[in-house]
Amino acid sequence: MARMVGLVLAVLLACTAMASANFNQEFDITWGDGRGKILENGQLLTLTLDRTSGSGFQSKHEYLYGKIDMQLKLVTGNSAGTVTAYYLSSQGPTHDEIDFEFLGNVTGEPYTLHTNVFTQGQGQREMQFRLWYDPTKEFHTYSILWNPKHIIFMVDDMPIRDFRNLEGKGISFPKNQPMRLYSSLWNADDWATQGGRVKTDWSHAPFSASYRNFRADACVLAGGGRTRCGVAVGTDAAPGSGVAAAAAAGSGTWYNQELDLTRQQRMRWVQSKYMIYNYCTDPKRFPQGLPAECSM
Ligand SMILES: *[C@@H]1O[C@H](CO)[C@@H](O)[C@H](O)[C@H]1NC(C)=O
Repeated sequence: MARMVGLVLAVLLACTAMASANFNQEFDITWGDGRGKILENGQLLTLTLDRTSGSGFQSKHEYLYGKIDMQLKLVTGNSAGTVTAYYLSSQGPTHDEIDFEFLGNVTGEPYTLHTNVFTQGQGQREMQFRLWYDPTKEFHTYSILWNPKHIIFMVDDMPIRDFRNLEGKGISFPKNQPMRLYSSLWNADDWATQGGRVKTDWSHAPFSASYRNFRADACVLAGGGRTRCGVAVGTDAAPGSGVAAAAAAGSGTWYNQELDLTRQQRMRWVQSKYMIYNYCTDPKRFPQGLPAECSM
C-alpha cells in the first residue's frame, strides 16, 4: 500500500473541466450486446434490460478525485426487480467504491435510492433514501463529490450523504486508487424489490433507463501514471505536482469543497424526512459493534 501511495503522490496533476461531455468520447458500452446505445451525437445514452440480458457502460477515464454529475431518467411503470447502478469503483480485492443504486418497484410504489461506500474492499455502509419526486418522469442530476476530505452524495444539488475522511481516527478513506465510473441496468429480482418478494414482470420488457448531461470536473489518470485535472482535455498547461496543483487549478473549487452550515442543515433535514435505512442505526448487523465512524 505504501508503494501505491508514493506512486500516486508522485503523479503530476493538471485539471480538466468539461462542459456537458460527449458520451462517445467519455464512455464505452461494455456489455449487453447492443442493449446499451449512445444516441443524438453523443448527448444521450440509453440502457435496456430484457429477459436475456441487461447492459452497461464504463468511463474511458479513471478519476482520482472529482465532481461527477449525471442526469438519469429511470425505468418507468412497473420497474420491480430492476436495478440501475451508477458508481465509481477501482479494481481488485481492496478496491474503493462509491455507489448509487436505484431499486425499482411496482407501479405507483417508490423507488429506493441505495448508497454505499467501500474503502479497501470493505463496504457495509449502506444508507437508503426515498426520493421526493418521481425519478421516472424527468431527468434528475445525481452527483458524487469526491475530494480528499469528503465523499458527498447529491441529488439535484441537495446533499443527502457526507462520508468524511476520518483517517486521523483510523478509518480508511478512498484516496489513492483511481476509479472508473460504471453504470448498468440489470435484473436483481432475487433481492431488490421488497426484499425479493416482487419479481420482474417480463411482459413489460424491455426496460430502459436514460442518461444525459454527464460532467466530470475531475482529475483524470493520463498515460504513464500522470493525472490531469481541470483546464482543458489534452493540454499540458499549468501542470504542477500533487495536491498543490489540484488545489490551485482554477476549476478546482470542488477539490476543497465542504458542506457549509446551511447545506449541512439541509442534508440533515433530507435525512430526517427521506432516509429509510442507515447502517449506523442497525446494531444487529454488527455483532462486534457499530463501525467506528458511526459514533463520530
Ligand atoms: C417498494 O414499495 C414498497 C411499498 O411501498 C416499499 O416497502 C419498498 O421499500 C419499496 N421499494 C423497494 C425497492 O422495494
